Amino acid sequence: MANKDLRQLDTPHTHLISAFLAMESPDCLLSLARVCGGGSVTESVQRFIWDQCIGKAVSEQNGNFYRPYLKRFLKKLIVEVESTGAYVLDEFYEQYATFMISVKDDDMAKGLSRILKWVSFLFPDDCSKSGKLVIPLQCSLNLLEGDTGCSIWPSSLFLSEFILSFPEKFSGKSCFEVGSGVGLVGICLAHVRASKVTLSDGDLSTLANMKLNLDLNQSCLKSGLLEPTREVQCKYLPWESASECELHDIMPDLLLAADVIYDPLCIPHLIRVLSIILRQRKAHSHAPDENFEHLEENIAVAEQAGLSVADLSEEIQVLDLLPYLQSYQRSNVKLFCVSCSS
Ligand SMILES: C[S@@+](CC[C@H](N)C(=O)[O-])C[C@H]1O[C@@H](n2cnc3c(N)ncnc32)[C@H](O)[C@@H]1O
Repeated sequence: MANKDLRQLDTPHTHLISAFLAMESPDCLLSLARVCGGGSVTESVQRFIWDQCIGKAVSEQNGNFYRPYLKRFLKKLIVEVESTGAYVLDEFYEQYATFMISVKDDDMAKGLSRILKWVSFLFPDDCSKSGKLVIPLQCSLNLLEGDTGCSIWPSSLFLSEFILSFPEKFSGKSCFEVGSGVGLVGICLAHVRASKVTLSDGDLSTLANMKLNLDLNQSCLKSGLLEPTREVQCKYLPWESASECELHDIMPDLLLAADVIYDPLCIPHLIRVLSIILRQRKAHSHAPDENFEHLEENIAVAEQAGLSVADLSEEIQVLDLLPYLQSYQRSNVKLFCVSCSS
């Protein structure tokens, strides 16, 4: 769906198409569409939405784009434009009529909960790397699917922004991630040329979905949509049963984790895994998290295990590469550096 011609778009139109690809809510899309039209969804903005978003998704994506979402967006769009008394594109009515017949809203209930989204990292003009990086990801509409690992969580968006903001910290380093979910962080690590990237998870369906996403991004690579990346490996690693011997074989320069401390029952197991891996190389771990409920308790447990935890959230200025994602509250995410103190 990424299109080289679209590199010339102005910021509001880039935000609108990026939000559409990331499946932001129809309300969010409408607010971005109004910005494009200087306050209302003008005919030229509607034409853009048809040519670059809805019409394109319907005609080019071979059914990959989640149709109930397109139907909901179209409905909101038509209601919004009609309410201002402005002209509504004929294509909108025609497509909506087709969706009324062909698209049911209960696809989720039938088990069709996997969808394809595109996360676009937009690099500012003054950044050494300009343009955008568009990453397709299959994820679930059900937040709990795959032990929560089949959804994209804000912490991994933030960790990805961190990696892309400071590529030199990761380039040439071997990186290992625990609780990797959909695999977004690993794709960003490969993009900044980490020397070796291994992703892991303790849920088998999450791992299968992660592999699919890595393949998907490899095929985008072949079609020229992404820059060349190194191979990313996946490993089944449930923290409870990971043996010391298995953990000793993992010797990364950097260990990463995003949003993995939400279940108090898993914390002791996670800390055991982190301390074994970190101790052998005295490596550092970067761990963004947005679950602060038991934070002080968790830090105390980590420190008892010989790990020191530093909060880098205020200190490090991570680039805002996802300015169009209204559903992502980056101020709710904290970034910690965990290192081996003993
Ligand atoms: C909230 S999701 C976060 C996924 C991803 N890091 C992100 O931020 O989008 C938590 C992830 O940790 C994994 N996880 C939870 N408990 C685990 C355990 N005991 N062992 C290994 N992985 C676990 C889940 O399968 C899931 O992929």
